[in-house]
Amino acid sequence: MRRRVTKAIFPVAGLGTRFLPATKSVPKEIMTLVDRPLIQYAIDEARAAGIKEFIFVTSRGKSALEDYFDHNPVLEQELRKKGKDGLLETLKATDMESGAIAYIRQHKALGLGHAVWCARRLIANEPFAVMLPDDVIAAEQPCLKQMVEAYEEIGEGNMVAAMEVAPEKTSSYGVLDVKEDMGSVVQVRGMVEKPDADKAPSNLAVIGRYILTPSVLRNLNKMKSGAGGEIQLTDAIAQDIENDRPAYGYRFRGERFDCGSKAGFLQATVAFGLARDDLRNDLANYLESVVQMSKAAE
Ligand code: UTP
Repeated sequence: MRRRVTKAIFPVAGLGTRFLPATKSVPKEIMTLVDRPLIQYAIDEARAAGIKEFIFVTSRGKSALEDYFDHNPVLEQELRKKGKDGLLETLKATDMESGAIAYIRQHKALGLGHAVWCARRLIANEPFAVMLPDDVIAAEQPCLKQMVEAYEEIGEGNMVAAMEVAPEKTSSYGVLDVKEDMGSVVQVRGMVEKPDADKAPSNLAVIGRYILTPSVLRNLNKMKSGAGGEIQLTDAIAQDIENDRPAYGYRFRGERFDCGSKAGFLQATVAFGLARDDLRNDLANYLESVVQMSKAAE
């Protein structure tokens, strides 16, 4: 099997119910963090990691996503006419090479594992990445790049991004059963989806970046629904471990924001706003005044 990772699957077919009513007509991945949609952060991270082919698993009502990566000749012509070169440059981030992007439909939201399985025919005998755009990671070196480098060194098995979470939070994540802790890389004995705190094998949680082998897709062929009635990706990776294929967790360096939740999205908005030279002062002053006012009110 080839060891280089050049394809990434972006499962974006979920219903996004936590953001209703907004997600009734706006795909969650198009919602903006400062001035860029979530999907742009994921694409930039993938490109930085050397990904060349981008596979979106979409569903009904996600056409705004397809349009986002298309040219908009009317807008471009208007900006050119007005001499808005800076804005034209900004639009370049959305340019995709013809043929580099593919859209596959998931006809029913049967779970993340099922969404990944829908892309099976576009994956050959090669490792591939899976990226969940609602996990946004602020990092000096983009998270997927860190993982690809570690993966190409190990050269086998499956790898998931891992992060320590508070013990009472394990029931929101896939959790790793650690066999050997080597620092940034841990070898994994098993994985459990959404365990209660007293049943969790560790507090090392899986977050939305994966490098997987095609055997996981084969496991998904036979997969029945697991936790929450959905076909779970974690179960298919755990199945691989049972079949004696190695799996690793990668403790990435960076801060992860759960933009699939309202609180996480708001935190990310503040963090990414404060990271911007053009917004930092105004935003920091505002936050300070809010804190002072709430202290005064106590
Ligand atoms: P979530 O668990 O966040 O579900 O999916 P969701 O539907 O997006 O949002 P809520 O919970 O209803 O608010 C995690 C990722 O898996 C994708 C989602 O699009 C998201 O990127 N997904 C989930 C699918 O593509 N298909 C599915 O059937 C389920």
